[in-house]
Amino acid sequence: MTDKKTKNASGSTTGAGAPAPSDRNSLSVGADGPILLHDVHFLEQMAHFNREKVPERQPHAKGAGAFGVFEATADVSGYTKAALFQPGAKTEMLARFSTVAGEMGSPDTWRDVRGFSLKFYTDEGNYDLVGNNTPVFFVRDPMKFPHFIRSQKRLPDSGLRDNHMQWDFWTNNPETAHQVTYLMGERGLPRSWRQMNGYGSHTYLWINAAGAKFWVKYHFHTEQGMAFFSNAEAAAMAGSDADFHRRDLFEAIARGEFPRWKLSVQVMPYAEAGKYRFNPFDLTKVWPHKDYPLIPVGSMTLNRNPENFFAQIEQAAFSPGNTVPGIGLSPDKMLLGRAFAYADAQRNRIGTNFHQLPVNQPKVPVNSYLFDGQMAYHHSGNAPVHATNSGGRSWADQTGPVADGWEVDGAMVRSAYTLRAEDDDFGQAGTLVRKVFNDAQRDALVDQVAGSLLGGVRSPVLERAFEYWKNIDAAIGKRIEDKVRAGSAAAPAEGMGEG
Ligand code: HEM
Repeated sequence: MTDKKTKNASGSTTGAGAPAPSDRNSLSVGADGPILLHDVHFLEQMAHFNREKVPERQPHAKGAGAFGVFEATADVSGYTKAALFQPGAKTEMLARFSTVAGEMGSPDTWRDVRGFSLKFYTDEGNYDLVGNNTPVFFVRDPMKFPHFIRSQKRLPDSGLRDNHMQWDFWTNNPETAHQVTYLMGERGLPRSWRQMNGYGSHTYLWINAAGAKFWVKYHFHTEQGMAFFSNAEAAAMAGSDADFHRRDLFEAIARGEFPRWKLSVQVMPYAEAGKYRFNPFDLTKVWPHKDYPLIPVGSMTLNRNPENFFAQIEQAAFSPGNTVPGIGLSPDKMLLGRAFAYADAQRNRIGTNFHQLPVNQPKVPVNSYLFDGQMAYHHSGNAPVHATNSGGRSWADQTGPVADGWEVDGAMVRSAYTLRAEDDDFGQAGTLVRKVFNDAQRDALVDQVAGSLLGGVRSPVLERAFEYWKNIDAAIGKRIEDKVRAGSAAAPAEGMGEG
């Protein structure tokens, strides 16, 4: 017997566009007999279903996003000629927010740094700014990045996340101190994506129309005001609505409440980089605002939800390597490492021609010498495939010094950055604890760190962790040690993600 006809049963198609016979009954020999191999429609459904998933991002797997517009409201043309930052320019954009360590289905409210990825569809090609909700990062050499991420993910035997492993990495790499202080403070638990700031974190190069160069750091300040969850609220939310941040953004935009962020930059004159008291390319450091004040640039508003999550968010491909004229990278080794990593990950995760998908496609004509490969869609007909050519197809031919470069000299070495007068691993973390945090925030930090250390951190990592915090701030370190030794931490056992 076939199922009763229903109102919507008037017709779907196969992938080839022909009328599909039935989405409810497979073809069989008699109602109770075996199904038949030539039921092409059934086979297509099964085979495609088996290929429906693509690998999740490694890291930043759990996230969501929305489209919007960036408007340059101030005049920073003296610093950059980038089209999107010229006064009055309006540029369509996409934003994606994420957690770092959790997998695709993990709760939005686990303690973690949050990703803040932006893609600007500019008149000169796509510009991507792939940052976080903190102005610094855990490490300063890209060689350490895979090790860092693995230490925040899962143990090889049990498949569990592990506070001991996390603290083992952090205490063996003291340059993590500044970012770990942010993470263990309230920034580790934003109430919503709408209520967090975003930072480019790295130092970038800006170049103006006359060719003058400046070093810049990006700051996106939320107009919704920063707000945070307590540990208890975040833990409860992780249990009751694992997708709380995703839902909050989607529903706010659907209601017409469009979140906005103001963009400002810190600008360092090019020549000052060589003599600044901190290494200005060290991603574990901030530039104090008294040295380089914030200069307003414009604002970004998210005003359109995706129509299809997979096509427009999961397949979105952001890369710090995507720059446009007027913007360049910098000698930050992390940034240079990232310039390679993202597109490589996306060729694997999405496919060779990921850049041809509508969400990743620039809004300007493309004349690239990238050909064929799996799922090629856009093509250049019979135009020459080789450069140089005599067939009338243009090619690029810059020679000499590059507009977005800087001077380097020296023998090849494997080495940490040269230290500047005030470069050390703990100084800025100490300033954050003493000068930026208030008493309540310091108390919460002590509870949070002690709770995390009580969650399975063993000797000798535990003693190293006490030392690490005493190096950040002697008093805070002592309070953490006392609390752990007394076994009386108020917070539940918690690391970067659990709890
Ligand atoms: C050498 C250091 C780093 C490497 C090798 C690296 C690598 C990666 C890779 C491979 C992905 C997945 C990309 C994809 O599949 O589409 C990713 C995602 C991401 N990374 Fe990094 N990363 C590094 C440092 C950083 C830093 C310093 C930040 C922030 C300041 C950051 C922010 C992000 C964000 C926000 C995403 C999610 C992108 C999205 O929304 O699609 N990463 N990273």
